[in-house]
Amino acid sequence: MREFNEATITDAVLERVAHTPDLRARQVSRALVKHLHAFIREVEPTEAEWEWGIRFLTETGQLCSDTRQEFILLSDTLGASMLVDTINHRLPSGATETTVFGPFYTAPPEFQPGADISGHLQGRPMYVAGRVTNPDGRPLAGAVVDIWHSDHQGFYDLQKFGNDRRYAGRGRFRSGDDGRFHFWTIRPTAYPIADDGPVGKMLRAQNRHPFRPEHIHFMVIAPGHRKLVTHIFAAGDQYLDSDVVFGVKTSLVEEYRAHHSGEAPDGRAMDGDWFSLDREFRLAPLA
Ligand code: BEZ
Ligand code: FE
Repeated sequence: MREFNEATITDAVLERVAHTPDLRARQVSRALVKHLHAFIREVEPTEAEWEWGIRFLTETGQLCSDTRQEFILLSDTLGASMLVDTINHRLPSGATETTVFGPFYTAPPEFQPGADISGHLQGRPMYVAGRVTNPDGRPLAGAVVDIWHSDHQGFYDLQKFGNDRRYAGRGRFRSGDDGRFHFWTIRPTAYPIADDGPVGKMLRAQNRHPFRPEHIHFMVIAPGHRKLVTHIFAAGDQYLDSDVVFGVKTSLVEEYRAHHSGEAPDGRAMDGDWFSLDREFRLAPLA
């Protein structure tokens, strides 16, 4: 067929991609054409609107660099990253749930048990104790636990110092024979994602705020088990029900317990306000 109209063009394109040799590429091509055409039929964009959409995606690409990934942010803020995460982490019951990786991971320096990873960050002291287990609660020794979080103003070390390697609020620990690890840091805070590009424009047009609720990132790796990438969110945060990237799961919300002076679990004498978090991370076995 040579000539197509509104009623026949979708089938014509589907027919054209039907011979894609790679089966997965064929499936993706078919779904892309089907859903893109359905989107256009539903929206009926004017030519000016279509051009605007192309410009939006062009600007999104142009803003991407080694330190900024606007396309991932677009995927995050449209809930696509969490949908992909959910589909890829259908875990057995008892396993700790996953959430978005985010843009602020870099391999951290390793610390001795109980070390303070806050570096140059200002803020209120926080003691974090964790335990790595399998879904039945059996301890996993020698797990590698990477932690990263923002400072008390919502900035990660990478945002402040780029690749200067002035790491702060970031560290690696290994679980002991009892599966436990612990460290000191400072309490982070809720923070806005970068909203000075196309994604920010989209959020404002949709009357949405750019904030993520307060959280600490954890990545836990243990032999024979699935890698766990997750956060632990602070109970009571005002953005838990409206996380801009849809990353919250109720099972990942914990009390960041407030204390006033007294003695910390590791015997440290505390003077003034401090916080503590105690949490288990249950890793699913590899299939
Ligand atoms: C983060 O939590 O670090 C994050 C996740 C997704 C988008 C932006 C930031
Ligand atoms: Fe974060």
